[in-house]
Amino acid sequence: MAKTLHRLIVSVVVSALASIFFVAPAANAGDVSPMIVGGTRASTATYPWVVYLASTSGSQFCGGTLVKANKVVTAAHCVSGRSASSTRVVHGRDDKQSTAGTVVNVTRIWVHPSYRTATSGYDVAVLTLDRNLNSATLPLATPQDTALYAAGNSALILGWGTTSSGGSASRYLLKANVPLTSDATCKSAYSQYSNTSMVCAGFPQGGTDTCQGDSGGPLVFGGKLIGDTSWGRGCAAAGYPGVYGRIASYHSVITAQL
Ligand code: ARG
Repeated sequence: MAKTLHRLIVSVVVSALASIFFVAPAANAGDVSPMIVGGTRASTATYPWVVYLASTSGSQFCGGTLVKANKVVTAAHCVSGRSASSTRVVHGRDDKQSTAGTVVNVTRIWVHPSYRTATSGYDVAVLTLDRNLNSATLPLATPQDTALYAAGNSALILGWGTTSSGGSASRYLLKANVPLTSDATCKSAYSQYSNTSMVCAGFPQGGTDTCQGDSGGPLVFGGKLIGDTSWGRGCAAAGYPGVYGRIASYHSVITAQL
């Protein structure tokens, strides 16, 4: 696992030198990935397309969204450098300590070819499952769906990640709503913000956010997948919204994988 070690070193050095911009390598997502902060319990019966990614031992490390019976959209940083054979998708399980739902194998991992780090964008990946799940799927936002990205839209976030920055992961699926921010607001918070590859969401005062372990999971508005959880400075901090991959920008490359 030289690559994992390399990423760990890079991530430690980057945070020591620069900041607390979290980009969790999948292998250490328990340390640095986020869970929903300020959320409440939710059921996969209500949100059947929300899934989590787990290791072969069953340890949850990211979220994802079922967009076709055998395809899951997640974050590139969740699965980059990971083998399909070491990755599981868990569907229909609210409580990570239960055996509810279905655990499926992954046969292929596509990472956006331009992905380098979460803060530079292209943080999107598509997993191919070894079987079709009998489940509702969530449609992808398209380039025509500009209205879905209007500032102030109250978007849904979901995940099993940590409930505070540096805290422990949630046993249960949690959800919350966060308003989309304007491009100007996000750009003033983060110099790395790109209005073509990212979208931000959060209250000005903070308090509600995705956090470590929620990465790859859905940002939903208007019945469509508009974002995938990507990065942020800490979690739920005032003035620092969560940053999500802008799915509409990746509609055609994702669709080419379905
Ligand atoms: N990078 C995190 C993960 O791997 C997600 C961070 C989201 N942070 C935030 N403040 N919204 O799970």
